[in-house]
Amino acid sequence: MTIEDIRNICVVGAGNMGHQISLLCAIHGYRTTCTDVAPGALQKAEKFVEAYLRGRVEKGKLTAENAEAARGNISFTPDLKEAAKDADYVIEAVTEVLDVKRRLFADLDRFVPTHAILATNSSNFVSSLLADATGRPEKVINLHFFNPALVMQLVEVVRGPHVSDETSQVSMDLCARLEKVSVLIKKEVEGFLLNRIFKAITKEALWMLEMGIAAAEDIDKACVFGAGHPMGPFKLMDLVGIDLEYTASMERFRKTGNPADLPSPGVVGKYIKGDYGQKTGRGWYDYSAK
Ligand code: 3HC
Repeated sequence: MTIEDIRNICVVGAGNMGHQISLLCAIHGYRTTCTDVAPGALQKAEKFVEAYLRGRVEKGKLTAENAEAARGNISFTPDLKEAAKDADYVIEAVTEVLDVKRRLFADLDRFVPTHAILATNSSNFVSSLLADATGRPEKVINLHFFNPALVMQLVEVVRGPHVSDETSQVSMDLCARLEKVSVLIKKEVEGFLLNRIFKAITKEALWMLEMGIAAAEDIDKACVFGAGHPMGPFKLMDLVGIDLEYTASMERFRKTGNPADLPSPGVVGKYIKGDYGQKTGRGWYDYSAK
């Protein structure tokens, strides 16, 4: 199989990442079906698609014709079997719970054509934890996008020992067709590449805040104005979701048993209150006025 054989893409999960990955594929000419078990998430995704495409046309970033074509390329359904039946390439972006993903990959393996590649956007689980839930381990790979997926250029392609050259090549080629910059990670490592770097920065930033050394706003300012980062670690946690920071840290702790991997007290406090960041209107910053 080559990139030319990829025409239909199925994105499973219409949340924070899935809806943008779906639209990205549709804008780049792929017939894309986005599916989610929660009808509310699909409705929200569909509304986003309409508003985003309208906004791009108004801003002069897309022609009305291209926006219309993208809208025509994307469809939404709660029916996984229906969404998967013609897929050449699947990108899974569901909740970060291993059992859920394993069950899903087993179902996808039954529903998609035999040639289809099954990719996961997971940042927590390497694909070898999912591959054996399917009868096609050589076609199961990590394709890790960054939030917001329509904007961030990087995609990490993580190649486990079970992945074939073909799957790896088609995945890299797909990134290029989506106008993304891909990096190949040759060994399955916790956090892949960029999240390991983010983790180190975030840990240090949380420590400084919790020791009373500086306010979150000032730590963010230092990263933006001193290091040229587009946003500081606290704004970034609010964008990605403090719930994700919490669950990723807990997942790491479960694996390592190292107390240093536990979520910091500040993160636990926000998690308990349900202050997850932009999506709940409050995190390290207050978004309720927006
Ligand atoms: N969805 C889609 N597009 C968005 C967007 C969103 N949520 N937010 C901003 N944009 C677009 C705007 O439409 C605009 O596009 P244009 O220039 O083509 O018109 C462009 O991004 C810039 O937007 P703004 O001027 O409104 O805002 P900023 O210049 O402040 O940019 C940002 C916003 C792109 C989010 C920028 O702050 C940024 O790059 N931040 C860093 C994000 C980052 O590091 N992401 C990685 C997170 S880690 C991760 O995802 C890993 C995972 O495993 C958890």
